[in-house]
Amino acid sequence: MRAVVYEGVGRVAVAEVADPELLLPDDAIVRVRLAAICGSDLHFLHGKAPLEPGEGIGHEAIGVVEAVGPDVRRFRVGDRVAVSFVIACGACWFCAHGQTQLCEDFRNLGAGIFGGGLGGAQAELLRVPHADVNLLALPQGLEDERAVFLGDVLATGVYAAGLGEVGPGDAVAVVGAGPVGFFAAQAARARGADPVLVLDRLPDRLALAERLGAEPVDVEARNPQMAVARRTGDRGADVVIEAVGHPSAFETALDVVRRGGRVVVVGMYAGEQVEAPLGVWWARALDVRFAGICPVHAWWERALEELLAGRIDPAPLVSHRLPLEEAPLGYELFASRRATKVLLVP
Ligand SMILES: NC(=O)c1ccc[n+]([C@@H]2O[C@H](COP(=O)([O-])OP(=O)(O)OC[C@H]3O[C@@H](n4cnc5c(N)ncnc54)[C@H](O)[C@@H]3O)[C@@H](O)[C@H]2O)c1
Ligand SMILES: [Zn+2]
Ligand SMILES: [Zn+2]
Repeated sequence: MRAVVYEGVGRVAVAEVADPELLLPDDAIVRVRLAAICGSDLHFLHGKAPLEPGEGIGHEAIGVVEAVGPDVRRFRVGDRVAVSFVIACGACWFCAHGQTQLCEDFRNLGAGIFGGGLGGAQAELLRVPHADVNLLALPQGLEDERAVFLGDVLATGVYAAGLGEVGPGDAVAVVGAGPVGFFAAQAARARGADPVLVLDRLPDRLALAERLGAEPVDVEARNPQMAVARRTGDRGADVVIEAVGHPSAFETALDVVRRGGRVVVVGMYAGEQVEAPLGVWWARALDVRFAGICPVHAWWERALEELLAGRIDPAPLVSHRLPLEEAPLGYELFASRRATKVLLVP
């Protein structure tokens, strides 16, 4: 089959690789219909996370079940499905408590040996372990392009708003207007938040947020704390969703939240450090919630409901659709921020 593979720092290629096979009785093979390029793929592209040359990449996809092992109960050949980027066992204590991202046997598609050595989703075929857990059936009538984000950034945005317990009338500030911020802002609006402020520095991303009914705040042009204070009776936001994953954005999040407010940190961190003024945070009674990786399985059904009800619309996010063979161009467009989201069609 054809698959996007890592070649070396800054380079991906489309190569002929062996077809994946059913290895365990609860595996499924999915024929990919659409795969997206995600910000996390760029960590691999730039060599910040280890992939060996020739290893498959990608983890956001939908497709049709091509084969199932004998223990798969919930899916049959021909079912159209979304795939979770978190591959969980579904049986351990954490999975049983809805925290599949903390699974004892946590794995990641398209993430090389540290992701459990699974193949990438930017490919014609994909092996999905524990298929009953890690696939979601898609209803008829939902277009592929709307469904493709269910297993990653869409579920993550819905999770962020849920973790923040966003409620009707809450003033919400979303720091970062990338795909995660885009979906978090829509999920907050779907929960009745008003206003929803989106903070970024890229004009086209702010314009995208504005199209969704959020209020854009250009953090280069305005002081974020003053901009949020002005819209919230000088209090600050009830809930802040940090969807960047950089200490500067974390600091902004703590600056714009009101006393006693909640901060959800959904942006990803690895080795970064910040100074923690514990007395200030304590006196302000801040409630800071680290999201970790999204427990997709606990949120994708709700995300699907929001999609079907039209409360969340992924369409404005997609800027490019390319054949799988043109994946290197897609990576180039996405890495240089000339694309907001690239879809690859195998
Ligand atoms: N928790 C999860 O499961 C999960 C899932 C997917 C992505 N993520 C993480 O979420 C974060 C966002 O993902 P994305 O795909 O939207 O990324 P992205 O890089 O496309 O978007 C980040 C946005 O933040 C903006 N930004 C950067 N610094 C800023 C600052 N100081 N203030 C305001 N805006 C700033 C950028 O201009 C950009 O538009 C990343 O860290 C990603 O790794 C987490
Ligand atoms: Zn991703
Ligand atoms: Zn588990």
